[in-house]
Amino acid sequence: MPMVDIKQSPQTPPAGAAADWTIPQDWSGYTPAEHAMWDTLFERQSRLLPGRVSATFLNGLDVLRMSKSGIPDFEELSERLTRLTGWKVLAVPGLVPDEDFFRHLANRTFIAGRFIRTPEQIDYLQEPDIFHDVFGHVPLLANPVFADYMQAYGEGGLRSLKFGAMHRLARLYWYTVEFGLIREAGELKLYGAGIVSSFSESKFALDDPSPNRIALDVKRVMRTRYKIDDYQQTYFVIDSYEDLLKQTLETDFAPLYAELESSQDLETDVLLPTDTVLNRGTQAYAASRKGAAA
Ligand SMILES: [Fe+2]
Repeated sequence: MPMVDIKQSPQTPPAGAAADWTIPQDWSGYTPAEHAMWDTLFERQSRLLPGRVSATFLNGLDVLRMSKSGIPDFEELSERLTRLTGWKVLAVPGLVPDEDFFRHLANRTFIAGRFIRTPEQIDYLQEPDIFHDVFGHVPLLANPVFADYMQAYGEGGLRSLKFGAMHRLARLYWYTVEFGLIREAGELKLYGAGIVSSFSESKFALDDPSPNRIALDVKRVMRTRYKIDDYQQTYFVIDSYEDLLKQTLETDFAPLYAELESSQDLETDVLLPTDTVLNRGTQAYAASRKGAAA
């Protein structure tokens, strides 16, 4: 199952958190069981991902030395990451308001949950934990182009608040940063954090005939709803991180938001005549879920 990752919680920071919502990671406070849970998850994904995941992700794991046993210490991780791309990782107690989330990204700070899932939650949890946030998101931040994209996204997010277009930017994040696919050397690979940190969706997103897989178009993505509690019915595919960055930087979001005001939202499984369709999905999985729910 995918992991819910909506950064919204419009309150003030809880006791013990700074004004920007960050908290000390307190790395020495993790128990042996918590470190062991990280290792279990890490080993499971490391076995599954080679050949499926973007080479850039694997390279990030390597240069950040994330295969080291136990939950990563953010100070050590940030030291390596800052040397490579100027990013750092800080802990937060949970979901934070959109504006704070965007501001951190715009300042090249990735905020991550401190807690790790329990053995009962190994395959599904509502809020992103440290495994999703750090294993899923941080390796790509070691890549200079993706690092620039995330900063550009944060800056775009701050601007979107003025236009009441937060939901459109959330869709872009969802279908790229969380659930994106990329074509590398002619083959589809995973790069979205929600997929690469999920044992089951790492298989579904790439192998299953059910979902649509279509080329990314920023405007199209901004019209597309998404599912937060099940596999995606459509995945968007980029040709390169350079292209993703270019599409984001070259889009003039203010007129785009105005234009989209008069266009209808698209359901999660819809295909348009203008789409570049790589795989037309059968939607068999979604149909079976509907049957089960009825
Ligand atoms: Fe995430």
